[in-house]
Amino acid sequence: MNKKTIDDITLTGKRILTRVDFNVPLKDGKVSDDTRIRAALPTIKKIITSGGKAILMSHLGRPKGQVKPELSLRPVAKKLSDLLELPVKFANDCIGPEAENGVKNLKEGEIILLENLRFHKQETENDSDFSQKLAELGDIYVNDAFGTAHRAHASTEGVTKFIKPAVAGYLMIKEIEYLGNTLAQPKHPFVAIIGGAKISGKIDVIKNLMQKIDTLLIGGGMVFTFYKAQGYNIGKSLLEEEKISEAENLLNMDLPDNMKMILPDDVLVTESLEPPYKIKIVSKNSIDDKSIGVDIGPKTQNIFADKIKTARTIVWNGPMGIFEIDEFAGGTIAVAKAIAEATDAGAVSIVGGGDSVAALDKTGLSEKITHVSTGGGASLEFLEGKTLPGVAALTERE
Ligand code: 3PG
Repeated sequence: MNKKTIDDITLTGKRILTRVDFNVPLKDGKVSDDTRIRAALPTIKKIITSGGKAILMSHLGRPKGQVKPELSLRPVAKKLSDLLELPVKFANDCIGPEAENGVKNLKEGEIILLENLRFHKQETENDSDFSQKLAELGDIYVNDAFGTAHRAHASTEGVTKFIKPAVAGYLMIKEIEYLGNTLAQPKHPFVAIIGGAKISGKIDVIKNLMQKIDTLLIGGGMVFTFYKAQGYNIGKSLLEEEKISEAENLLNMDLPDNMKMILPDDVLVTESLEPPYKIKIVSKNSIDDKSIGVDIGPKTQNIFADKIKTARTIVWNGPMGIFEIDEFAGGTIAVAKAIAEATDAGAVSIVGGGDSVAALDKTGLSEKITHVSTGGGASLEFLEGKTLPGVAALTERE
Protein backbone atom coordinates (compact mmCIF):
# COMPACT_ATOMS: atom_id res chain seq x y z
CA MET A 1 0.00 0.00 0.00
CA ASN A 2 1.47 3.36 -0.97
CA LYS A 3 -0.40 5.18 1.82
CA LYS A 4 1.07 6.31 5.12
CA THR A 5 0.19 4.11 8.06
CA ILE A 6 0.04 4.41 11.81
CA ASP A 7 3.55 2.96 11.94
CA ASP A 8 4.93 5.93 9.99
CA ILE A 9 4.04 8.56 12.60
CA THR A 10 4.88 9.61 16.14
CA LEU A 11 1.83 9.26 18.37
CA THR A 12 3.24 10.33 21.74
CA GLY A 13 1.49 13.33 23.24
CA LYS A 14 -0.63 13.84 20.11
CA ARG A 15 -4.41 13.97 19.75
CA ILE A 16 -5.13 11.07 17.39
CA LEU A 17 -8.49 11.58 15.69
CA THR A 18 -9.43 8.04 14.72
CA ARG A 19 -12.33 6.99 12.47
CA VAL A 20 -13.50 3.52 13.44
CA ASP A 21 -16.48 1.53 12.17
CA PHE A 22 -18.47 0.80 15.31
CA ASN A 23 -21.66 0.32 13.30
CA VAL A 24 -22.53 -2.79 15.31
CA PRO A 25 -25.84 -4.48 16.08
CA LEU A 26 -27.50 -3.55 19.39
CA LYS A 27 -30.08 -5.58 21.28
CA ASP A 28 -31.86 -4.31 24.39
CA GLY A 29 -29.40 -1.41 24.59
CA LYS A 30 -26.33 -3.68 24.48
CA VAL A 31 -23.85 -4.61 21.74
CA SER A 32 -24.94 -8.01 20.42
CA ASP A 33 -21.96 -8.59 18.09
CA ASP A 34 -18.63 -6.97 18.99
CA THR A 35 -16.62 -8.25 15.99
CA ARG A 36 -16.01 -4.77 14.59
CA ILE A 37 -15.02 -3.37 17.98
CA ARG A 38 -12.51 -6.17 18.57
CA ALA A 39 -11.14 -5.64 15.06
CA ALA A 40 -10.24 -2.03 15.94
CA LEU A 41 -8.44 -2.90 19.18
CA PRO A 42 -4.89 -3.23 17.75
CA THR A 43 -5.00 0.37 16.49
CA ILE A 44 -6.53 1.73 19.70
CA LYS A 45 -3.98 -0.14 21.83
CA LYS A 46 -1.12 1.14 19.69
CA ILE A 47 -2.28 4.75 20.18
CA ILE A 48 -2.64 4.53 23.96
CA THR A 49 0.46 2.46 24.65
CA SER A 50 2.46 4.99 22.61
CA GLY A 51 1.18 7.80 24.84
CA GLY A 52 -1.24 9.20 22.26
CA LYS A 53 -4.71 10.50 23.09
CA ALA A 54 -7.27 8.31 21.30
CA ILE A 55 -10.27 10.31 20.04
CA LEU A 56 -12.59 7.79 18.42
CA MET A 57 -15.44 8.64 16.07
CA SER A 58 -17.98 6.43 14.30
CA HIS A 59 -21.47 6.26 12.91
CA LEU A 60 -24.15 3.84 14.08
CA GLY A 61 -27.11 3.04 11.85
CA ARG A 62 -28.72 5.63 9.61
CA PRO A 63 -30.30 8.32 11.83
CA LYS A 64 -30.29 10.77 8.89
CA GLY A 65 -29.27 13.86 10.85
CA GLN A 66 -31.69 13.26 13.75
CA VAL A 67 -30.60 12.58 17.33
CA LYS A 68 -32.00 9.10 17.95
CA PRO A 69 -31.26 7.88 21.48
CA GLU A 70 -31.57 4.24 20.37
CA LEU A 71 -28.62 4.87 18.02
CA SER A 72 -26.36 6.40 20.65
CA LEU A 73 -22.81 5.03 20.75
CA ARG A 74 -22.82 5.02 24.58
CA PRO A 75 -23.34 1.20 24.79
CA VAL A 76 -20.38 0.82 22.42
CA ALA A 77 -18.17 2.86 24.77
CA LYS A 78 -19.16 0.45 27.56
CA LYS A 79 -18.34 -2.59 25.40
CA LEU A 80 -15.00 -1.11 24.35
CA SER A 81 -14.16 -0.40 27.97
CA ASP A 82 -14.99 -4.02 28.92
CA LEU A 83 -12.83 -5.38 26.10
CA LEU A 84 -9.85 -3.16 26.94
CA GLU A 85 -10.39 -3.36 30.70
CA LEU A 86 -9.78 0.38 30.72
CA PRO A 87 -12.00 3.44 31.17
CA VAL A 88 -13.43 4.88 27.94
CA LYS A 89 -14.76 8.44 28.16
CA PHE A 90 -17.79 9.49 26.16
CA ALA A 91 -18.78 12.84 24.64
CA ASN A 92 -22.47 13.49 24.01
CA ASP A 93 -21.73 15.14 20.68
CA CYS A 94 -19.05 14.71 18.04
CA ILE A 95 -18.47 18.47 17.57
CA GLY A 96 -19.05 21.59 19.68
CA PRO A 97 -18.31 22.20 23.40
CA GLU A 98 -19.08 18.60 24.52
CA ALA A 99 -16.50 17.15 22.16
CA GLU A 100 -14.01 20.02 22.58
CA ASN A 101 -14.02 19.85 26.39
CA GLY A 102 -13.83 16.07 26.37
CA VAL A 103 -10.77 16.21 24.14
CA LYS A 104 -9.20 19.10 26.11
CA ASN A 105 -9.39 17.08 29.34
CA LEU A 106 -8.00 13.90 27.76
CA LYS A 107 -4.60 12.81 29.06
CA GLU A 108 -1.94 10.82 27.24
CA GLY A 109 -2.94 7.16 26.98
CA GLU A 110 -6.65 7.92 27.49
CA ILE A 111 -9.59 7.20 25.18
CA ILE A 112 -12.73 9.14 24.35
CA LEU A 113 -15.53 8.00 22.03
CA LEU A 114 -17.58 10.76 20.39
CA GLU A 115 -21.34 10.44 19.88
CA ASN A 116 -22.77 9.15 16.57
CA LEU A 117 -21.47 11.26 13.67
CA ARG A 118 -24.70 10.76 11.73
CA PHE A 119 -26.71 12.69 14.33
CA HIS A 120 -25.51 15.56 12.11
CA LYS A 121 -26.69 15.40 8.51
CA GLN A 122 -23.48 17.19 7.49
CA GLU A 123 -21.61 13.92 8.03
CA THR A 124 -23.14 12.07 5.09
CA GLU A 125 -23.29 15.32 3.08
CA ASN A 126 -19.50 15.52 3.45
CA ASP A 127 -19.95 19.13 4.54
CA SER A 128 -16.75 21.15 4.59
CA ASP A 129 -17.43 23.17 7.80
CA PHE A 130 -18.39 20.01 9.66
CA SER A 131 -15.26 18.25 8.39
CA GLN A 132 -13.15 21.16 9.61
CA LYS A 133 -14.77 21.05 13.07
CA LEU A 134 -13.99 17.35 13.33
CA ALA A 135 -10.42 17.96 12.15
CA GLU A 136 -9.86 20.60 14.86
CA LEU A 137 -10.25 17.86 17.49
CA GLY A 138 -7.02 16.13 16.44
CA ASP A 139 -3.39 16.62 15.44
CA ILE A 140 -3.22 13.47 13.32
CA TYR A 141 -5.98 11.51 11.58
CA VAL A 142 -6.12 7.72 11.50
CA ASN A 143 -8.71 5.87 9.44
CA ASP A 144 -9.34 2.33 10.67
CA ALA A 145 -12.93 2.14 9.42
CA PHE A 146 -12.57 -0.18 6.44
CA GLY A 147 -16.30 -0.96 6.62
CA THR A 148 -17.09 2.70 5.86
CA ALA A 149 -14.26 3.38 3.41
CA HIS A 150 -16.66 3.20 0.44
CA ARG A 151 -18.48 6.29 1.76
CA ALA A 152 -17.14 9.76 0.90
CA HIS A 153 -18.38 11.29 4.15
CA ALA A 154 -17.02 14.11 6.34
CA SER A 155 -15.30 11.75 8.79
CA THR A 156 -13.82 9.49 6.10
CA GLU A 157 -12.96 11.89 3.29
CA GLY A 158 -13.76 15.57 4.01
CA VAL A 159 -11.75 15.64 7.24
CA THR A 160 -8.53 14.70 5.44
CA LYS A 161 -8.52 18.10 3.73
CA PHE A 162 -8.02 19.78 7.12
CA ILE A 163 -5.73 17.43 9.04
CA LYS A 164 -2.44 15.94 7.91
CA PRO A 165 -1.11 13.36 7.88
CA ALA A 166 -4.12 11.09 7.33
CA VAL A 167 -2.92 7.52 7.84
CA ALA A 168 -4.29 3.98 7.78
CA GLY A 169 -4.83 2.02 10.99
CA TYR A 170 -4.03 -1.68 11.40
CA LEU A 171 -7.48 -2.99 10.46
CA MET A 172 -7.53 -0.85 7.32
CA ILE A 173 -4.06 -2.10 6.38
CA LYS A 174 -5.01 -5.74 7.00
CA GLU A 175 -8.23 -5.56 4.97
CA ILE A 176 -6.59 -3.85 2.02
CA GLU A 177 -3.61 -6.20 2.05
CA TYR A 178 -5.72 -9.36 2.17
CA LEU A 179 -8.31 -8.28 -0.34
CA GLY A 180 -5.85 -6.41 -2.56
CA ASN A 181 -3.05 -9.01 -2.64
CA THR A 182 -5.49 -11.86 -3.12
CA LEU A 183 -7.01 -10.22 -6.15
CA ALA A 184 -3.70 -8.97 -7.53
CA GLN A 185 -1.71 -12.21 -7.21
CA PRO A 186 -4.08 -15.12 -6.69
CA LYS A 187 -2.81 -18.68 -6.63
CA HIS A 188 -4.74 -20.86 -9.04
CA PRO A 189 -7.21 -22.52 -9.14
CA PHE A 190 -9.07 -19.40 -7.97
CA VAL A 191 -12.72 -20.09 -7.12
CA ALA A 192 -15.30 -17.40 -6.33
CA ILE A 193 -18.62 -18.24 -4.75
CA ILE A 194 -21.21 -15.52 -5.16
CA GLY A 195 -24.62 -15.80 -3.56
CA GLY A 196 -27.25 -13.67 -1.88
CA ALA A 197 -30.78 -12.72 -2.68
CA LYS A 198 -30.27 -10.32 -5.53
CA ILE A 199 -28.20 -9.95 -8.67
CA SER A 200 -28.24 -6.18 -8.32
CA GLY A 201 -25.12 -5.16 -6.44
CA LYS A 202 -23.30 -8.33 -7.50
CA ILE A 203 -23.11 -7.92 -11.27
CA ASP A 204 -20.07 -5.66 -11.15
CA VAL A 205 -18.39 -8.01 -8.69
CA ILE A 206 -18.98 -10.94 -11.03
CA LYS A 207 -17.71 -8.98 -14.05
CA ASN A 208 -14.56 -7.87 -12.25
CA LEU A 209 -13.81 -11.30 -10.77
CA MET A 210 -14.36 -13.04 -14.11
CA GLN A 211 -11.08 -11.61 -15.36
CA LYS A 212 -9.14 -13.23 -12.52
CA ILE A 213 -10.82 -16.46 -11.48
CA ASP A 214 -11.00 -20.00 -12.85
CA THR A 215 -14.42 -20.95 -11.54
CA LEU A 216 -17.46 -18.94 -10.52
CA LEU A 217 -20.08 -20.74 -8.43
CA ILE A 218 -23.42 -18.97 -8.24
CA GLY A 219 -25.99 -19.65 -5.53
CA GLY A 220 -28.63 -17.85 -3.48
CA GLY A 221 -31.84 -16.16 -4.55
CA MET A 222 -30.14 -14.58 -7.55
CA VAL A 223 -30.01 -18.00 -9.21
CA PHE A 224 -33.68 -17.73 -10.15
CA THR A 225 -33.18 -14.59 -12.22
CA PHE A 226 -30.49 -16.51 -14.11
CA TYR A 227 -32.85 -19.50 -14.51
CA LYS A 228 -35.55 -17.16 -15.83
CA ALA A 229 -33.06 -15.78 -18.34
CA GLN A 230 -32.37 -19.37 -19.41
CA GLY A 231 -36.09 -19.94 -19.95
CA TYR A 232 -36.82 -22.20 -16.93
CA ASN A 233 -39.98 -22.00 -14.88
CA ILE A 234 -39.10 -20.59 -11.44
CA GLY A 235 -42.51 -20.82 -9.76
CA LYS A 236 -42.78 -18.30 -6.93
CA SER A 237 -39.03 -17.96 -6.43
CA LEU A 238 -37.38 -14.57 -6.06
CA LEU A 239 -37.12 -12.75 -9.38
CA GLU A 240 -35.57 -9.43 -10.32
CA GLU A 241 -37.59 -8.81 -13.46
CA GLU A 242 -35.54 -5.77 -14.48
CA LYS A 243 -32.29 -7.74 -14.21
CA ILE A 244 -33.26 -10.63 -16.51
CA SER A 245 -31.56 -9.09 -19.52
CA GLU A 246 -28.37 -8.39 -17.53
CA ALA A 247 -28.39 -12.01 -16.35
CA GLU A 248 -28.79 -13.05 -19.97
CA ASN A 249 -25.84 -10.87 -21.00
CA LEU A 250 -23.68 -12.44 -18.29
CA LEU A 251 -24.66 -15.93 -19.40
CA ASN A 252 -23.82 -15.10 -23.02
CA MET A 253 -20.57 -13.30 -22.24
CA ASP A 254 -17.39 -14.64 -23.79
CA LEU A 255 -15.63 -16.12 -20.79
CA PRO A 256 -11.86 -15.92 -20.49
CA ASP A 257 -10.09 -19.16 -21.54
CA ASN A 258 -10.82 -22.11 -19.23
CA MET A 259 -13.01 -20.02 -16.95
CA LYS A 260 -16.22 -21.76 -15.89
CA MET A 261 -19.41 -20.26 -14.51
CA ILE A 262 -21.51 -22.86 -12.70
CA LEU A 263 -25.17 -22.46 -11.77
CA PRO A 264 -26.92 -25.00 -9.52
CA ASP A 265 -28.21 -28.17 -11.18
CA ASP A 266 -30.72 -28.85 -8.43
CA VAL A 267 -32.44 -26.70 -5.83
CA LEU A 268 -34.38 -27.06 -2.61
CA VAL A 269 -37.93 -25.73 -2.94
CA THR A 270 -40.81 -25.24 -0.53
CA GLU A 271 -44.40 -24.14 -0.90
CA SER A 272 -44.24 -21.90 2.16
CA LEU A 273 -41.64 -19.88 4.04
CA GLU A 274 -43.53 -20.58 7.28
CA PRO A 275 -43.58 -24.01 8.94
CA PRO A 276 -44.77 -26.61 8.18
CA TYR A 277 -42.57 -26.45 5.09
CA LYS A 278 -43.19 -28.71 2.14
CA ILE A 279 -39.60 -29.26 1.08
CA LYS A 280 -38.64 -30.96 -2.17
CA ILE A 281 -35.40 -31.33 -4.07
CA VAL A 282 -35.92 -30.69 -7.76
CA SER A 283 -33.74 -30.27 -10.79
CA LYS A 284 -33.54 -26.81 -12.33
CA ASN A 285 -35.94 -27.70 -15.11
CA SER A 286 -38.69 -29.11 -12.85
CA ILE A 287 -39.65 -26.21 -10.60
CA ASP A 288 -43.46 -26.09 -10.51
CA ASP A 289 -45.71 -23.06 -10.23
CA LYS A 290 -46.25 -23.39 -6.46
CA SER A 291 -42.58 -23.72 -5.52
CA ILE A 292 -40.24 -21.19 -3.95
CA GLY A 293 -36.51 -21.90 -4.35
CA VAL A 294 -34.75 -21.56 -1.00
CA ASP A 295 -31.35 -23.29 -1.24
CA ILE A 296 -29.03 -25.15 -3.59
CA GLY A 297 -29.72 -28.90 -3.78
CA PRO A 298 -27.49 -31.78 -2.56
CA LYS A 299 -26.11 -32.59 -6.01
CA THR A 300 -25.04 -28.97 -6.40
CA GLN A 301 -23.60 -28.93 -2.87
CA ASN A 302 -21.28 -31.77 -3.93
CA ILE A 303 -20.32 -30.13 -7.22
CA PHE A 304 -19.55 -26.83 -5.44
CA ALA A 305 -17.67 -28.56 -2.60
CA ASP A 306 -15.48 -30.50 -5.07
CA LYS A 307 -14.55 -27.30 -6.89
CA ILE A 308 -13.85 -25.44 -3.65
CA LYS A 309 -11.68 -28.22 -2.23
CA THR A 310 -9.31 -28.10 -5.19
CA ALA A 311 -8.94 -24.30 -5.01
CA ARG A 312 -5.84 -22.46 -3.80
CA THR A 313 -7.61 -19.08 -3.62
CA ILE A 314 -11.25 -18.68 -2.60
CA VAL A 315 -13.46 -15.60 -2.36
CA TRP A 316 -16.97 -16.00 -0.94
CA ASN A 317 -19.68 -13.38 -0.87
CA GLY A 318 -23.33 -14.14 -0.17
CA PRO A 319 -25.18 -17.18 1.22
CA MET A 320 -26.44 -20.07 -0.94
CA GLY A 321 -29.99 -19.95 0.42
CA ILE A 322 -32.19 -18.58 3.21
CA PHE A 323 -29.63 -19.71 5.81
CA GLU A 324 -31.45 -17.96 8.67
CA ILE A 325 -33.95 -20.84 8.53
CA ASP A 326 -32.19 -24.07 9.56
CA GLU A 327 -34.06 -26.20 7.02
CA PHE A 328 -32.73 -23.99 4.18
CA ALA A 329 -29.16 -23.58 5.48
CA GLY A 330 -27.67 -26.84 4.12
CA GLY A 331 -26.08 -25.35 1.00
CA THR A 332 -24.49 -22.46 2.86
CA ILE A 333 -23.13 -24.82 5.52
CA ALA A 334 -21.74 -27.19 2.86
CA VAL A 335 -19.94 -24.30 1.16
CA ALA A 336 -18.56 -23.01 4.49
CA LYS A 337 -17.29 -26.50 5.39
CA ALA A 338 -15.64 -26.98 1.99
CA ILE A 339 -13.92 -23.56 2.32
CA ALA A 340 -12.71 -24.46 5.81
CA GLU A 341 -11.35 -27.77 4.52
CA ALA A 342 -9.60 -26.11 1.57
CA THR A 343 -8.09 -23.51 3.92
CA ASP A 344 -6.79 -26.27 6.18
CA ALA A 345 -5.15 -27.77 3.10
CA GLY A 346 -3.36 -24.48 2.34
CA ALA A 347 -5.79 -22.35 0.31
CA VAL A 348 -6.19 -18.63 1.01
CA SER A 349 -9.85 -17.90 1.77
CA ILE A 350 -11.54 -14.52 2.01
CA VAL A 351 -15.12 -14.05 3.13
CA GLY A 352 -16.76 -10.64 2.78
CA GLY A 353 -20.19 -9.11 3.07
CA GLY A 354 -22.50 -8.87 6.08
CA ASP A 355 -24.70 -11.86 5.17
CA SER A 356 -21.88 -14.25 4.35
CA VAL A 357 -20.14 -13.35 7.60
CA ALA A 358 -23.40 -13.94 9.54
CA ALA A 359 -23.80 -17.26 7.71
CA LEU A 360 -20.23 -18.21 8.54
CA ASP A 361 -20.77 -17.34 12.20
CA LYS A 362 -23.77 -19.66 12.21
CA THR A 363 -21.55 -22.53 11.05
CA GLY A 364 -18.95 -21.77 13.75
CA LEU A 365 -16.21 -21.99 11.11
CA SER A 366 -15.07 -18.34 11.09
CA GLU A 367 -11.77 -19.24 12.77
CA LYS A 368 -10.91 -21.55 9.89
CA ILE A 369 -11.04 -18.79 7.26
CA THR A 370 -7.89 -16.90 6.30
CA HIS A 371 -9.58 -13.49 6.36
CA VAL A 372 -13.14 -12.55 7.29
CA SER A 373 -13.69 -8.96 6.17
CA THR A 374 -15.40 -6.46 8.48
CA GLY A 375 -16.72 -4.67 5.41
CA GLY A 376 -20.11 -5.33 3.84
CA GLY A 377 -20.60 -2.73 1.11
CA ALA A 378 -16.92 -1.78 1.32
CA SER A 379 -15.65 -5.29 0.57
CA LEU A 380 -18.16 -5.62 -2.28
CA GLU A 381 -16.96 -2.36 -3.84
CA PHE A 382 -13.37 -3.51 -3.40
CA LEU A 383 -14.21 -6.76 -5.20
CA GLU A 384 -15.83 -4.68 -7.95
CA GLY A 385 -12.42 -3.10 -8.49
CA LYS A 386 -13.56 0.35 -7.34
CA THR A 387 -11.39 2.87 -5.53
CA LEU A 388 -12.67 3.42 -2.00
CA PRO A 389 -12.83 7.17 -1.21
CA GLY A 390 -11.77 6.67 2.42
CA VAL A 391 -8.59 4.95 1.23
CA ALA A 392 -7.91 7.32 -1.66
CA ALA A 393 -8.03 10.29 0.75
CA LEU A 394 -5.16 9.01 2.92
CA THR A 395 -1.72 10.65 2.69
CA GLU A 396 0.59 9.12 0.08
CA ARG A 397 3.98 7.79 1.07
CA GLU A 398 6.78 9.92 -0.38
C1 3PG B 1 -21.63 -1.06 7.02
O1 3PG B 1 -22.21 -1.56 8.00
O2 3PG B 1 -21.60 -1.64 5.91
C2 3PG B 1 -20.89 0.22 7.22
O3 3PG B 1 -20.82 0.59 8.55
C3 3PG B 1 -21.48 1.33 6.37
O4 3PG B 1 -22.78 1.63 6.78
P1 3PG B 1 -23.78 2.37 5.78
O5 3PG B 1 -24.14 1.39 4.70
O6 3PG B 1 -24.96 2.79 6.61
O7 3PG B 1 -23.03 3.56 5.19
